[in-house]
Amino acid sequence: MYICLCQGVTDRQVREAAENGCQSMRQLGKELGVGRQCGRCAASAREILRECQTPDYLTLAGLLAEPA
Ligand code: FES
Repeated sequence: MYICLCQGVTDRQVREAAENGCQSMRQLGKELGVGRQCGRCAASAREILRECQTPDYLTLAGLLAEPA
């Protein structure tokens, strides 16, 4: 799904950027141009960044539950 229509950036691209080290909207703007024109995408892009930075507790719980 397109997050930034001005730059043609998708949520997948935002997630990939986050996985590759983008941690802020400033970095995301430099990397992909997100939020640099009209700014309507900023809230959605910020939310995706936050999701990517939040630990996946279900995965962590699964790893802890595995026998050694
Ligand atoms: S929609 Fe992203 S800058 Fe306009």
